[in-house]
Amino acid sequence: MSLSIVILAAGKGTRMKSAQAKVMHGLAGRPLLQHVIDTAKQLQPTQLVVVAGNGAVQVLPFLEGNQVDAVMQTEQLGTGHAVMQAKDAIAASEQVLVLYGDVPLTQVVTLEALIDCVAEGGVGILTTKLDDPTGYGRIVRDFDGRIRCITEQKDANPEILLIDEVNSGIMLLPSQWLLASLDMLGNNNAQGEYYLTDMIALAVADGLAIDTVCVDDETEVAGVNNRSQLAALERHHQLAQAEALMTAGVTFADPARVDVRGDVTIGNDSFVDVNVIFEGTVSVGSNVEIGANCILKNCEIGEGSVILPNSMIDSSVIGANANIGPFARLRPGTALADKAKIGNFVETKNANIGLGSKVNHLSYIGDTDMGAGVNIGAGTITCNYDGANKHRTVIGDNAFVGSDTQLVAPVTVGEGATIGAGTTLRKDAGDGQLTLTKSRQITVEGWVRPQKTK
Ligand code: UD1
Ligand code: CA
Repeated sequence: MSLSIVILAAGKGTRMKSAQAKVMHGLAGRPLLQHVIDTAKQLQPTQLVVVAGNGAVQVLPFLEGNQVDAVMQTEQLGTGHAVMQAKDAIAASEQVLVLYGDVPLTQVVTLEALIDCVAEGGVGILTTKLDDPTGYGRIVRDFDGRIRCITEQKDANPEILLIDEVNSGIMLLPSQWLLASLDMLGNNNAQGEYYLTDMIALAVADGLAIDTVCVDDETEVAGVNNRSQLAALERHHQLAQAEALMTAGVTFADPARVDVRGDVTIGNDSFVDVNVIFEGTVSVGSNVEIGANCILKNCEIGEGSVILPNSMIDSSVIGANANIGPFARLRPGTALADKAKIGNFVETKNANIGLGSKVNHLSYIGDTDMGAGVNIGAGTITCNYDGANKHRTVIGDNAFVGSDTQLVAPVTVGEGATIGAGTTLRKDAGDGQLTLTKSRQITVEGWVRPQKTK
């Protein structure tokens, strides 16, 4: 059956105490709304629309960037009223799934289960049982367990308040029936709102089949109303991701002290020390060691490599058995071949570093093609920028560059060439030769160190 998805995201989020729209607050490095959209897209709906209202100045450009349609709910008159704004999207398919923009951790399999359990023309509700159901709409059933209605906390009598099965808000409804019945919603209730939940009593009256899927893990249906709940969901989500990686054979010094903000795969027998952050798409091979406080973003790390503490790797590809850090910064476009070594306080960018080459200390290597077996001395700088344009430095296999050398690009260091320490290389250095800038060392006779004036 064809499916439309409507994501409700017009609410105010007062308790966030924020100038930022609630659904734009981040969880695992992505806006809450992004999580819901990504989940929704996996269900391959024919229509996907977000109902925006509060914070629309932030939400609408975000949706445009993600090529997701939006409809405006300028006045927030309730969840039923919000759904009414999406009539066109609803009319486009046979069923409509309502999701909330501030409920980020619903699993695709759970939504698929909801879709699968619903009979043709029937209604499905995602529910959960809570020790403390306060604040939620209650699922009211008759003696045979059939659903009668959903009653909101503020409209409930003491008997109903005892019910521990609650409405997650996530619902599947038949489109034609919904469109025909939405206008029957009233707002004669404690909050003076048009409740989407009132559609359930209408569905019962019309004899529609109503099924529920009750999720065990309440975080799947947990909404974010304040920053404390946001932090709790973040931690839950992070721990779940660490668990999945541990199941795949990864050791964490502490699974509670790792952050995965994207899609990460790690091979077995790799070790991740505390406070490591993974961002974007990261793939790490087997037997890799990642030291404390490293940040790995959009990168590939080959098997057996060692990344020592406090290193940052961004948009780079690292071969096998490479050695990085501590305190190394690999910027976008760095490609390290197998067994290459980048030591402390070294920055690289747009640089190909060949097999087994070493840049061990205090260097900047940018816009460079470096061959294999090269040794770069401490403090070597590629001067890649002339103030207007960037130029490349080429360093041949087995070259040896002495400490404190400036390679003024464009420039080439030949294969097996040796550059003397302290050289400012402005012209190409030939293969196998020693090149250096010679400045005469002098000793100033009779020189006296300045003394501190009293
Ligand atoms: C709603 C449900 C309640 C359920 C709970 C689960 C109704 C009437 N009640 O209550 O049964 O247990 O969610 O969290 O549906 N929104 C709009 N426009 C509006 C009002 C709300 O877009 O006019 C959006 C909000 O941004 C939010 C969602 O709908 O994403 C839920 O709204 P909220 O006000 O939080 O509903 P609850 O009172 O919590
Ligand atoms: Ca809510």
